[in-house]
Amino acid sequence: MATRVKNIPSPAILMNSMRSIGYSFKAAVADILDNSISASAKNTWIYFPAYDCGNLYLAILDDGFGMSKSELFNAMKYGSEKEFYGEKDLGRFGIGLKSASLSQCKVLTVLSKKDSKINAYRWDLDAVKDEWECLELTESEMQECPCYEKLEELSQGTLVLWQNFDIAYKKSNGHTYEYLSEKLEECEGHLRLIFHRFMSRKTNPVSFYINDDKLTGYDPFLENHSKTDPKKPSEIPVTYEENGVEKKAYIRVQQYILPHQNDLDKKDIELLGGIEALKDNQGFFIYRNDRLIIYGTWFRLSSRYVNNELYKYGRIKVDIPNSLDEIWDIDIKKQNAVIPKNIINLLRKSVMNVCEISKEKTGKRARLESDADSAGIWTKNVSRNGKDIFHINTQAPFIKGFLDSFRDEDRAKILRFIDVISSNLPFDDIYVSVCNKNNETEADEGINDSLIMMGIEQFHTIKETRQCSDDVALEKLCKYPPFNDERTAKEIRRRIKGDE
Ligand SMILES: Nc1ncnc2c1ncn2[C@@H]1O[C@H](COP(=O)(O)OP(=O)(O)OP(=O)(O)O)[C@@H](O)[C@H]1O
Ligand SMILES: [Mg+2]
Repeated sequence: MATRVKNIPSPAILMNSMRSIGYSFKAAVADILDNSISASAKNTWIYFPAYDCGNLYLAILDDGFGMSKSELFNAMKYGSEKEFYGEKDLGRFGIGLKSASLSQCKVLTVLSKKDSKINAYRWDLDAVKDEWECLELTESEMQECPCYEKLEELSQGTLVLWQNFDIAYKKSNGHTYEYLSEKLEECEGHLRLIFHRFMSRKTNPVSFYINDDKLTGYDPFLENHSKTDPKKPSEIPVTYEENGVEKKAYIRVQQYILPHQNDLDKKDIELLGGIEALKDNQGFFIYRNDRLIIYGTWFRLSSRYVNNELYKYGRIKVDIPNSLDEIWDIDIKKQNAVIPKNIINLLRKSVMNVCEISKEKTGKRARLESDADSAGIWTKNVSRNGKDIFHINTQAPFIKGFLDSFRDEDRAKILRFIDVISSNLPFDDIYVSVCNKNNETEADEGINDSLIMMGIEQFHTIKETRQCSDDVALEKLCKYPPFNDERTAKEIRRRIKGDE
C-alpha cells in the first residue's frame, strides 16, 4: 500500500508562479472590490496619488464589517479557510485577495479594523523564502501606511494596499506612474459596468469612489428608456448535487431589445458607456450574484450570430446564483464561465430571437430611409479602401431643379464648387456631434427660413414647368428631401395656401 509522504510546496516559487494566472489590472481591482461587497460595505474608495510621489501605492478601502486579528491572518492565507460561502457571497476559492493583488505588485498589506482595533499583515514577495511567513505590522509600521488615517476614521473596514509595482515598471520602461494612471482610467469604465447593479439597487446600494469621485453605474439595457423592449423573463430550473443531496436552483434569462441608435440622446449614450458600447456590448450579460462576469459575446452559440452591426440591439441578461458555480465552471478570476450543456438549446433560442428582432430593426430603418436616399441631398459611397465617402447628390430633384436654372458654363462652375464642398465634409466633427447627440437641442431648432423660401421658389418652378395645380406641385415638392420633413412641408404649405 502506498505511504503518505508530505510534499510541501515552495512558497517563493508557488507565489511567484501564481502571479501569472492572467489577471488584468482591472480584473484584479474588481476581485478586491468583490471582497468589500461580500463584507457588506456601503462605500468603497480607491486611492491613487495625484502626482508621482516616488512612493507609489494603490489603496482600496471599504467600510465593510472588517476583520479581527485572527480573521485577517486567515484572510492572508493562500487558501483562506471558510466554513461556508453565503448565497450572496462573491468569493469562492479563498485566494483572490492574494493572487489578484500580487499579480500587480510585490508588496500586499492588508489592514483591517473591527471592534475599534486595527491589525495589519503583509506579504512581501522579496521577503518570502522557504517558509509561508507573512509579516505582522507594528503600530508604527501601520501608521506609516498610506491612507491609514482614512481607515482610522471609520468605525470598521478594511484597507488593501498595493506597493512595489515591478511588472508595471517593466512594462512601461520605468514610467510606472503614467502606466498605472492609464490603467486606473481603464478600470473606471470596467467598474462602472460590472458593478452597475450594486450602484443602482434600491436597498443597500454600494458607492464606489476613485480619489473621492463617485462613479455612476452604466446600464447596458437602458432599462428606463421608453423604447427599450424588455421581453418577459424566464426561469430555467437546474438540479445540482451538494454533499450528496440533490438541490434545485434557477437561472433567470431575460431578452432585451435596445432602442434604435437614432432614438438615443447624449445621456443614453453615456449611460450605455459610449457609442462603441452599443455594438461592442451586444449579446449575453452573465451575472453571478448581480456581479457581471461576462459580457459582449454571443458565445458562438450559432455560427450565424456573431458580434455584428445587425445584432447590436440584442442583449440577453442571464442571472446565475453562486450555487451553480461548478456547473458554469466559474474560474478563479471570475472572468470566465462555460454555458452548461443542458441549457445551451434554450439559450440558443433566445439568441435567435433577439438577433432576428435586432436585424429587423436595423433593416427596417434602412429600408424606410432608402427611398428618400435615392433622392436625398447626400449620397454615400464606399471608397476602394473601404472608407465611407459622402457626396452631394446632383441628381436629387432639389439640387437638379436648382442647377437646371443656370447656363451650361455656370452650371459647370457650380458643380466644381459643390464637389469641393462635398470633399471637405468635416467627417470627424460630425461623428463626435452625432455621438454626443442631444435631442433637447434639436427640439429647440427653429424652421430654416432660407429653406422655406427656396421651397416656395421651387414650388413655383414646378407649377410653371408642369402646368399643374397647387396641390400637385406641393405634393411633388414635398416628396423629396429636404422638403419631405414634416415641419418644413407644413410651413411651406401654410405660406402658400394659408393653411394652419
Ligand atoms: N474587504 C474585506 N472585508 C472583510 N473580509 C474580507 C475582505 N477581504 C477579504 N476578506 C476575508 O478574507 C477571505 C479571503 O479573501 P479572498 O479574496 O482571498 O478569498 P475569497 O473571497 O474567499 O474567495 P475568492 O478566491 O473567490 O476571492 C474572504 O473569504 C473574507 O472572509
Ligand atoms: Mg475574494
